[in-house]
Amino acid sequence: MRIPEETVERIRQAADILEVVGDFVSLKRRGSNYIACCPFHNEKSPSLNVNPARQIYKCFGCGKAGDSVRFVMDVENLGYGEALRYLAKKYNIEIEEQEVTPEEQLKHTERESLYIVLNYAKTFFQDHMLKTDEGRGIGLSYFRERGFSDPTIAAFDLGYSPDQWDALLNDAQTKGYNPELLSKAGLTVTREESGKVFDRFRGRVMFPIHNVSGRVIAFGARILKVDPKAPKYLNSPETEAYHKSQVLYGIFQAKQTIRQEDVCYLTEGYTDVISLYQAGIKNVVASSGTSLTIEQIRLISRFTQNVTILYDGDAAGVKAALRGLDMVLEEGLNVSVATFPNGDDPDSYVRKVGAEAFKAYLSQHTQDFIAFKTAALLKDAGDNPFKRAEVITEIVGSITRIPDPIKRQVFFQSTARQLSVDEQTLISESNRLIRKQHDTQVKDYERQQERDARNAARDGGNTTQRSAAPAQNRPGPHDFPPDDFFNDFLDEAGISPAPREENVPADQPGAGQTSSGASGAKPTPSLKTPDAARPPLAYQEEECIRLLMNYGTRELEPGITLCHYILSELSDIDFQHAPYDLILTLYREAFSRGETLTAEDFMHQRPNVSEAPMTSQQSNGLQYQAISLTTQRYEISNQWQDKFHIFVPSEEDIGVLAEAAYGNILRLKKLIAEERMHDLLQKIRTVKDPAESDQLMADYMHFKRVDVEIARLLGTVISG
Ligand code: CTP
Ligand code: MN
Repeated sequence: MRIPEETVERIRQAADILEVVGDFVSLKRRGSNYIACCPFHNEKSPSLNVNPARQIYKCFGCGKAGDSVRFVMDVENLGYGEALRYLAKKYNIEIEEQEVTPEEQLKHTERESLYIVLNYAKTFFQDHMLKTDEGRGIGLSYFRERGFSDPTIAAFDLGYSPDQWDALLNDAQTKGYNPELLSKAGLTVTREESGKVFDRFRGRVMFPIHNVSGRVIAFGARILKVDPKAPKYLNSPETEAYHKSQVLYGIFQAKQTIRQEDVCYLTEGYTDVISLYQAGIKNVVASSGTSLTIEQIRLISRFTQNVTILYDGDAAGVKAALRGLDMVLEEGLNVSVATFPNGDDPDSYVRKVGAEAFKAYLSQHTQDFIAFKTAALLKDAGDNPFKRAEVITEIVGSITRIPDPIKRQVFFQSTARQLSVDEQTLISESNRLIRKQHDTQVKDYERQQERDARNAARDGGNTTQRSAAPAQNRPGPHDFPPDDFFNDFLDEAGISPAPREENVPADQPGAGQTSSGASGAKPTPSLKTPDAARPPLAYQEEECIRLLMNYGTRELEPGITLCHYILSELSDIDFQHAPYDLILTLYREAFSRGETLTAEDFMHQRPNVSEAPMTSQQSNGLQYQAISLTTQRYEISNQWQDKFHIFVPSEEDIGVLAEAAYGNILRLKKLIAEERMHDLLQKIRTVKDPAESDQLMADYMHFKRVDVEIARLLGTVISG
């Protein structure tokens, strides 16, 4: 599935930056460049700059920048290979995909193999529906009865699973697919008592679930018989390829129109999505019967800030519409709701009235979420004054979550009218909630600080317990064992660890003289006790540079080098410590010229290191860094392995390396988020103006969420 180098080159040559970017935003000429409103962040005046001569874009608002391929990756949320395929399609460049034999499969990563087997299963179900009597008589005629046309059936890859115990399993095995893979993809199940394996989906119509780039990652399957014991829909289990909470059914088919129409319709079911799509309303996705998750909201917000929820008009439908929506408000999205009469769902309603009447109904019955929620709660409360007071608190709670103060203002006004109360009452209530929230946050933060301090004290007292430290402090695959433990060990073995300084030729200057900043004034001997004055961020920056220098050109996945990965992850981050800030800048400059610097480039002071002239002091300092970052740790780990037969995971292993890079990036980002939170909290403590405090609080919450999310990801990196 690898795209040959020369094809990649042809695609890159063909993909003109103006044409590629112009597909997504409207470009206006400004001198020799073009400008547009940036698709990566919300803005009213254009700060995206496209330079046709250099074939690059850069947003001066959010900092995103890159070439055509990078733009497609970001805007369509695709991987590198997928972005190349997208561009190849646009420019009619044929990609000679190699046929994948079962042996080759083994070489793919697990997820990659799951995609392959899921895609095979999709085709199997399609073929079975379109090419067999059973499929045509049962599956296809069911879809036709529901009014789905052939193009619609094709657009959603619909299919039918034969009503047999092992049709898929047998076919897959004759074609050489590993049965274990089928099981990992959720396509087969194993009966516990007998150990017998059979197909999960039998005699059902199949709805493949695609990810945002169009790969099949799971299936939903609807029963056709009347069987009260069997569920109407059977879905794939969670697998390596399918994380239900992160997926929206129909997003692949809808994303283009969502962006064009600047609104996303959110429904409950597979059939709602398909019927509306067929009626020409293509900007529609489904949460597939679960309440909305934060990941799903973020998926939508990559394409639009406007969501309209289309749910059944019955009480359960309204409840479902209210659930989880405060979270959507908190993400800054504009939420509206439309419900349908007589227990109709969008699917049945559009079939009943037709596309035009459906659109007319929507335009008349769409209400903003706050108004909808207020009306629903008021109806429930009736004339009971206590209940009406609760409604006020509840609604104010929702409005308070909206990050934009101007929008909040508008909602206070309109809701005051709807509730027949004074606007000021709502604002005071909101301020009370904010203060309460604020106090809780400060307390949480202080508690966390105390915990961290306690942990640090404990870990400091007994370093061999380091593995019990929180995830972000756990040693990565290549970190050293605790220092004194390690030194004792070497002493016993009669080996003296070479501190980094010994790698510096006597006449070389130390690090830190390469650019301003006191933190790098002397090189860091990593085998000594870590320098207490040196902030953790400096260690992570150093580690990042070490990875770049040692492995920048290694491919983490086909077409993506470690350097490419790290630089794109750090696109909006600058290092704070010398000399790593300078080195990172040099990597960036080189990368934008299409080059990846190596440690040798620095060591031999080659001219490609920097386009701008450097002083010999700078150049010598960089040489020193390159030497010290690429030599020492290796010798040590080899000693461990050779002399003591202790297994040290090697970074030569691409998986270990990828994990080290991923972990490093996450730790960096976490430290930055924590720093920002710390600063914000200092400000929040002193600020008097409630509006300002409110804004700071919102910023604080943002970083808090980032921090928590990273901690979660780090947890999975370390344990998984
Ligand atoms: N669903 C599910 N498992 C079930 C029932 C429902 O996963 N046992 C999900 C499906 O994604 C389904 C959605 O919840 O599409 C809505 O359920 P429902 O309204 O019952 O189904 P419809 O989509 O309306 O399907 P149909 O019109 O075929 O009855
Ligand atoms: Mn239905």
